Amino acid sequence: MTEEDLYMEHMGVFMPKIAHTPESLKFNQEFSFRPDDILIITYPKSGTTWTQEIVPLILSQGDPTVVDTVPNWDRVPWLEETRASVLNLDQRPSPRVFSTHFHYHMMSPSFFRVKPRVIYVMRNPRDVLTSSYHYHAMASFLVNPGTQKEFLHKFLDGKVLFGSWFDHVKGWLSPGDHQNIMYLSYEDMILDLKVCVARLAEFLETPLDPETMEKIAQRCLFSNMKNNKMSNYTLVPKQLMDQSTSQFLRKGIVGDWKNHLTVAEGEYFDMVYQDKMLNVKYTFAWD
Ligand code: A3P
Repeated sequence: MTEEDLYMEHMGVFMPKIAHTPESLKFNQEFSFRPDDILIITYPKSGTTWTQEIVPLILSQGDPTVVDTVPNWDRVPWLEETRASVLNLDQRPSPRVFSTHFHYHMMSPSFFRVKPRVIYVMRNPRDVLTSSYHYHAMASFLVNPGTQKEFLHKFLDGKVLFGSWFDHVKGWLSPGDHQNIMYLSYEDMILDLKVCVARLAEFLETPLDPETMEKIAQRCLFSNMKNNKMSNYTLVPKQLMDQSTSQFLRKGIVGDWKNHLTVAEGEYFDMVYQDKMLNVKYTFAWD
């Protein structure tokens, strides 16, 4: 099936029709934030599910009940998805935790007015590309990725799920007067998860003792999270996500792109990256 069959285009960005409708976008647009809301914002395949596990554990002081019993999409719902409107989010106690894959300029008026707390998670786009390639191959609601070369061009042109990685990152790195943002990278999390848990706890003003931090970091290791059926997407029917093609928690490493991209593809990627990121001053963990 083609992009036209499977995606809707919203503000120039492809979004799968299965999860997004004009009604869900209206709900999102009209959603009222609270100042102590916490938003996990990512370009897809950058560490969303991982952060959806860590943040609730920090807020619960390491009590695993919520991550053991509530699927990640209800625990930390995406505000642009159809499910958001049936979860009675206005009745949830503070602090509420949400996700979004929206670009900065797509956020709702309430977001710009209330300025809730934002955790923006980034990942080397080469690894995002590789992860996304496998995801497009296993998810029936996404357009088949074709060859790696074809997908590489689509990715660099932003003709994939949630548009251009470059626009997403550049937009969120220049968030106007919104100061309440913590930047985190997938690579930092791989390097030292405990340090990231400590940074997140500080940002969320939730003091944790060292043992609790250690417990959360252990619990969120790839090998452990892979076994949590509330987070590994095995609750999703096979017709939608065929995990025998590729698992959602697939490899969980840094640098897997090197096992997939040819030298020429890697060089082409670098050339486009240099061009598109020319004026970005941020020092990325992968540079
Ligand atoms: P890979 O496909 O490279 O393995 P998202 O949740 O934003 O869609 O991102 C999915 C990616 O994050 C997948 O990458 C997945 O394996 C990885 N991931 C999820 N949980 C992880 C964890 N605990 N440790 C390391 N990587 C994790």
